[in-house]
Amino acid sequence: MTILKIDSSISGENSVSRRLTAAIVDQLVHANPDARLVERDLVANPLAHLTERGQDADVLEEFLAADTVVIGAPMYNFSVPSQLKAWIDRIAVAGKTFRYGANGPEGLAGDKRVIVAVSRGGFYDADNSFEHVEAYLKPMFNFLGAEPQFVRADGVAVGPEQRDAGLANGMAEIERLAA
Ligand SMILES: Cc1cc2nc3c(=O)[nH]c(=O)nc-3n(C[C@H](O)[C@H](O)[C@H](O)COP(=O)(O)O)c2cc1C
Repeated sequence: MTILKIDSSISGENSVSRRLTAAIVDQLVHANPDARLVERDLVANPLAHLTERGQDADVLEEFLAADTVVIGAPMYNFSVPSQLKAWIDRIAVAGKTFRYGANGPEGLAGDKRVIVAVSRGGFYDADNSFEHVEAYLKPMFNFLGAEPQFVRADGVAVGPEQRDAGLANGMAEIERLAA
């Protein structure tokens, strides 16, 4: 089993999403001691904006080779970090992770488990039109054939108590993932 961990927070050791992705990976490795872990830090090693020429095939191959993909997705300006968007631009490739057939689009990455750790400064109801993290990543991965599982830390920027509560909620959701 190969686990691919993707981090995109700019906040280093203070990052909530990085705490969550680390905890998810710990849990996965505990359950699968022989698992191979591949880590990609999109802030330490950023990908360039997509161009017609540069596809970074190694990024796609790394995704294709993974059985489980763990993604840290902090909310920046109501959406995902541009670092994470650049990664998605490398893995959404016609003929590799999706194709259009007689019945419309077909995802080709349906054999993967995708777990997304979302951290947000505020609180967002499901119908909040400012929310473009889950509202983007869920249909995006559905398009690729996968059903992402989300764990969430919310209210992180409201104050220290809410930060702790949000982190605790995320950790509890990680526990439930294993159950
Ligand atoms: C550049 C930047 C933009 C942010 N934009 C938003 C935002 O639009 N909405 C929100 O609720 N929180 C926003 N936040 C707060 C983050 O979502 C929150 O701090 C979260 O914990 C970030 O994840 P991280 O701790 O893994 O970096 C922003 C934070 C930063 C640094």
